[in-house]
Amino acid sequence: MLPALETFILDFRALYNEDISDAERFERGRPFLKTLLADKRLKQCAEKWPARNDPDQGYFENLLFYEDPDYGFVINALIKEPGESTPIHDHGEVLTVYGVFIGGEIVKRFRRVDFGAGENGAPGTDNGIELELVGENAVTPGYIDFVPPGEIHVEHNGQHRTIGLILRNGNVGDHLQSWYNKELGTRVRRYGPKQIPYQLA
Ligand SMILES: [Fe+2]
Repeated sequence: MLPALETFILDFRALYNEDISDAERFERGRPFLKTLLADKRLKQCAEKWPARNDPDQGYFENLLFYEDPDYGFVINALIKEPGESTPIHDHGEVLTVYGVFIGGEIVKRFRRVDFGAGENGAPGTDNGIELELVGENAVTPGYIDFVPPGEIHVEHNGQHRTIGLILRNGNVGDHLQSWYNKELGTRVRRYGPKQIPYQLA
């Protein structure tokens, strides 16, 4: 395994010896991800990583570098070709820490403001949805975004390849998430990107 990845996994696993929430654990994992984002060998590897999304067909892939057998945390990459965007989406109950590795993009965040949003963990309705834009950031390599469960967002890539290196507390391929249509005020529930096991050596 790539030494930088091995170090990351050892360091991050050690955080499970502490009696803390995942939110705190993943916050404390940030500097480890920062180190990984700066690794030159990993950057060389990334030149070969395939980008095979088909946004028009609603098809997205994540490279799956590691899934922890004991604690379930996952390390992914999402590779976008120039001009590619994600749908407006959330990650369901999965907590995500998203590091920009190569390229750069615009990340917008939304808040649901209709009365069907659901309170106290209720799932809310699938239509009559009104989304309000609450943030817009141009992000560049080294930037790390903390995305709590259920937070609604979209990524629009610039005119270059962009790679996100992603740490999650579960496998999004096995968890339902929501994809939103802002104009129609609807959403669909579906599993996250297809997980493609990829050996980082
Ligand atoms: Fe996302």
